[in-house]
Amino acid sequence: MKLHLGCGHNYMEGWINVDGPRDELCYDDIKADIYSKIEDLEYPDNSIDEILMIAVFEHFPRHVAIMQLRKFYKWLKPDGGKLTILVPEFWATVEMLKKSKSPKEQQFWFRHLYGPQDTIQFGTHYDGFDVEKLKWMFSIVGFNKYEYEIIKRWPSIRFTGIKDNKIKTDADAEKDIIDYMANYEAKDESGRLFGAWMNAMGLNAEKPQTPTFKTHEMFKESIISKIISKFKQILK
Ligand SMILES: C[S@@+](CC[C@H](N)C(=O)[O-])C[C@H]1O[C@@H](n2cnc3c(N)ncnc32)[C@H](O)[C@@H]1O
Repeated sequence: MKLHLGCGHNYMEGWINVDGPRDELCYDDIKADIYSKIEDLEYPDNSIDEILMIAVFEHFPRHVAIMQLRKFYKWLKPDGGKLTILVPEFWATVEMLKKSKSPKEQQFWFRHLYGPQDTIQFGTHYDGFDVEKLKWMFSIVGFNKYEYEIIKRWPSIRFTGIKDNKIKTDADAEKDIIDYMANYEAKDESGRLFGAWMNAMGLNAEKPQTPTFKTHEMFKESIISKIISKFKQILK
């Protein structure tokens, strides 16, 4: 069984084509086999041969995206089940923005990054991606093998995760997902954001004491060094 999720106007024979609930889409001519939020779909573990999502994965809020990725991994058959996503490539799109000669020219690339926003639910892009981030996300949920291709004209990444026989357990995936999410919050924040994400994800976890990120320290260092140099200037 093969799933084509967020099919839009690209109905593919031989696949189960899915797009959002009819009364929530802004097009009434989308042909699908199932009209449903992707998040509401359920399939048994190890039952799907292939999942394809072209220009769709970026439509999930970040905590939904990582949980969905884990769900897709579990649905796929071991020893060759494939998940392919195509998402905007952040850095090359920023280059296109920089090269644009006017705000008018930039509009298209801002849309490429942030989505058409024809509907809030299904038309907004919630996160940015590059190859390293996708490698990280796919490995967190369990993929040990992947391949990818960079598409230059409309800067995008086609990224395929291939499920092998070395299955990642729920407990191991959960631990890595919690660490992944902790990096979205600044170190000195109260943990309220982190708590809200965990609630939404149905996970019961404290914010890790020692998240792996260094951004906050770097930021603090730069502020401290700015204050020191200000003082030095005053004392001169
Ligand atoms: C940018 S279009 C891409 C359409 C098609 N894949 C293509 O390449 O032409 C994104 C599609 O995903 C659908 N979509 C986005 N988020 C969705 C969700 N959470 N559940 C179901 N469909 C969703 C939208 O309705 C839309 O048709």
